[in-house]
Amino acid sequence: MSTTPAFDMVLFGGTGDLAMRKILPALFEAHREGTLHPDGRILALGRAAGSRAEYLQQVERQARPHLRVDAADPAWQGFVQRIDFLQLDASRAEDFPPLGDWLGNAPRQRVVVCYLATAPRLFAPICAHLAACGLNHGNVRVVLEKPLGHDWASSEAINAEVARHFQEQQIYRIDHYLGKESVQNLMAIRFGNVLFEPLWRREWIDHVQITIAEDLGVEGRGEFYDKTGALRDMLQNHLLQLLCMVAMEPPASLDADAIRDEKLKVLKSLKPIREDDVPRCTVRGQYRAGAAGGQPVVGYRQEPAVAADSLTETFVAVRAEVASWRWSGVPFFLRSGKRMPERLAEIVIHFRPVPLSLFGMPSTTQGVNRMVIRLQPEERISLHFLAKQAGDGMRLQPTSLDLDLLSTSHRRRADAYERLLLDVIRGQLGLFMRRDELAAAWRWVEPILETWERDASQPKAYTAGTWGPAASSALLSRDGVAWHEEI
Ligand code: BG6
Repeated sequence: MSTTPAFDMVLFGGTGDLAMRKILPALFEAHREGTLHPDGRILALGRAAGSRAEYLQQVERQARPHLRVDAADPAWQGFVQRIDFLQLDASRAEDFPPLGDWLGNAPRQRVVVCYLATAPRLFAPICAHLAACGLNHGNVRVVLEKPLGHDWASSEAINAEVARHFQEQQIYRIDHYLGKESVQNLMAIRFGNVLFEPLWRREWIDHVQITIAEDLGVEGRGEFYDKTGALRDMLQNHLLQLLCMVAMEPPASLDADAIRDEKLKVLKSLKPIREDDVPRCTVRGQYRAGAAGGQPVVGYRQEPAVAADSLTETFVAVRAEVASWRWSGVPFFLRSGKRMPERLAEIVIHFRPVPLSLFGMPSTTQGVNRMVIRLQPEERISLHFLAKQAGDGMRLQPTSLDLDLLSTSHRRRADAYERLLLDVIRGQLGLFMRRDELAAAWRWVEPILETWERDASQPKAYTAGTWGPAASSALLSRDGVAWHEEI
């Protein structure tokens, strides 16, 4: 049964990679599930001239392969009926009135979602042109894809321009990690149970590790990536959002602003990493030739469209601290990298050792006293602790309690984009970043970015297919701890 209102989804960048790989497949899944209102239309916009039939051929070639559906399947046939195409150059004001005509100008009750899957430099002109045609009334929502800016100033400039034409509650800033089922489950686990909350503080937690590792390299995105790097691509947004989910206080309610207020407090409490702290608290790495999936792969500098002397980081690790009563003194180690041994995202909570060992085992027994929350590819929670070894005497051994979260519910799991797109159509802002959150995240990473930019030394090399440079292990060993997989 449809659960969205009638809508028009306008895709700026409709012929681009994101539309083909993520947005259209997500809309299709929602359509197949019957969640989209029957009167929901999708209008793809592209700069190059083309007909609807030509666009549908592109969708057939580039979007359908991301889905398990035959071209002849009635669900697919029904979905493509929703799609239309219009040529529009986002930088030309004169191209916008035909968009207004397509939308029919008059019915202001209907939800219009403008998804800006374009380069961020086009966000401000698109919003201005939409407003000039009256397409900024209360039922129009704009979705802004990351990266939102290149640094704090550019992100603020974009936000200020967009805010001239749209109210904050019309603006949906995407961080697709927030749409992942497993990330939302973090809130459920923390705030739905009494078990964890009393332990979730500096008295009991020694440190926290958050990893987002990818086995892929830059996959044909060399031009974008070389200007971006892992810090802007992953740390400023996804890793910091995960940190917020781990560290935030219970919100007063599940209202969008109640949740976002708590996340903002965490971002504002992050202890600044100043220029002098950068060498000690951060690691900037870049992969060299190695192997991925058993096959040899080139180094980052040999990737297409990457400068042969590029200093861009493909790996970042940071030691962060949240200066609050709950977390003071607890290090949060965050890392993300391309060409690591596997694709995984996980949060590891390391609890403090027992104050006194009664069993003749060192209080820091390796691998225990940990809770591992695996976010992807599997969704799993494991609690590692000590239990008695069977038999004579009182010897303990490490053991674990494993919960496969996928097996706890057999309902279909929506992809992050599907969930987020449905939320936009329904007008639910909770999983999107508010302007002040984004600014706080940029403000915190800015000194690291600036220091790295001034520093002409080489990023630390790591071989493709490994867990990053040696400096990443050293970052933790200074606190007497080690990355989860090294224990
Ligand atoms: C995107 C980054 O935001 O997230 C990509 O731009 C990265 O570089 C991707 O590959 C990872 O997302 P996921 O959902 O595959 O972990």
